[in-house]
Amino acid sequence: MKGTVQVEHLYKEFGGSGLFGKWGDKTPALEDINFTLEKGELAALVGESGSGKTTLGRCLLGLIKFESRKVKVNGYDIASLGGADEKAFRMSAQMVFQNPFSSLNPAFKARDALVEAIRVHDPSISREKANDEVEKLAALVQLPIDRLNEYPPSLSGGEKRRVVFARALATNPDFVVTDEPVSGLDQPIQAQLLDLMRKIQRRQNSTMLFISHDLRLVRFVATRVLVMHRGRIVEDAPAEIFFHQQGPSHPYSRELLESAFHPDQLFGPQVQQSHPERGSGGCSFRNRCKFTSTEMDQPCATMTPPLLEIKSNHRVACHWCRNQEADR
Ligand SMILES: Nc1ncnc2c1ncn2[C@@H]1O[C@H](COP(=O)(O)OP(=O)(O)OP(=O)(O)O)[C@@H](O)[C@H]1O
Ligand SMILES: [Mg+2]
Repeated sequence: MKGTVQVEHLYKEFGGSGLFGKWGDKTPALEDINFTLEKGELAALVGESGSGKTTLGRCLLGLIKFESRKVKVNGYDIASLGGADEKAFRMSAQMVFQNPFSSLNPAFKARDALVEAIRVHDPSISREKANDEVEKLAALVQLPIDRLNEYPPSLSGGEKRRVVFARALATNPDFVVTDEPVSGLDQPIQAQLLDLMRKIQRRQNSTMLFISHDLRLVRFVATRVLVMHRGRIVEDAPAEIFFHQQGPSHPYSRELLESAFHPDQLFGPQVQQSHPERGSGGCSFRNRCKFTSTEMDQPCATMTPPLLEIKSNHRVACHWCRNQEADR
């Protein structure tokens, strides 16, 4: 149970006004999310800005409310967390937030931020013991001990990320969501930090959901790739297939991969197509898809493609892909 994630039919809407947001327009941010993670997996969650990656991470940690048939993380039912269960769950699952600068209090030295994280979960621990733990954490994330005495504004971008990562590891979690953990850093620092992140995750045999919009980074660390488009998972593939064997299947995943490794494609002549309205039915990628049929009676325009297995451990939500597989 530890380090496993099971998600069935998860939906999240934002908006609405009045008590409990009952009135007014609501916008779906996540629609019918289904997946599982096994212990020890490092799954990357990729997709363009606004596709719902952070929202999904926050739902999995029970930081925001959502609707679902089932969401179980580390064996805890997230929708009905409370009391002692909630406390135990919060220790077992952590999130490294997208913006480390706003998640570190500039008035707290790095050491104090980490002591605080340890004492929140174990108030009975002595300050001396907590300080020892902090130094072990610093060694784990390769942060020199003397840097612990600095305030966040005096730390480099890479050092801040190490502190934020150490804070997430303070409770020895079984499941960690890291949201763009190295964005905005120079490439060599990104590579160092990702390498460290992967080594720690393997050594602790924890499960990680690594949110990133950069497939070049994902390629080095992920064992599995989940691709999101407009609030839905459109592909779920082993990293080996996605990056090294036949490549991704969904036309959107293919586009992401091509533009990641040939960035000049982004600047070529492109006709910008608007997306279909959310919740309007049909495939959300159809206006940009090279393979869709434009006939209105075709399934791409009328039927939301379900996420179905096309090969063992490889699921795709695309009518065209399924026809291709059937024709083989
Ligand atoms: N608190 C909120 N209130 C209203 N809408 C929200 C809220 N948080 C997210 N959204 C909306 O939900 C959608 C998904 O946002 P989310 O931040 O999860 O995307 P993302 O994939 O993480 O994007 P990025 O790559 O830019 O971080 C967006 O349309 C966003 O505007
Ligand atoms: Mg985000």
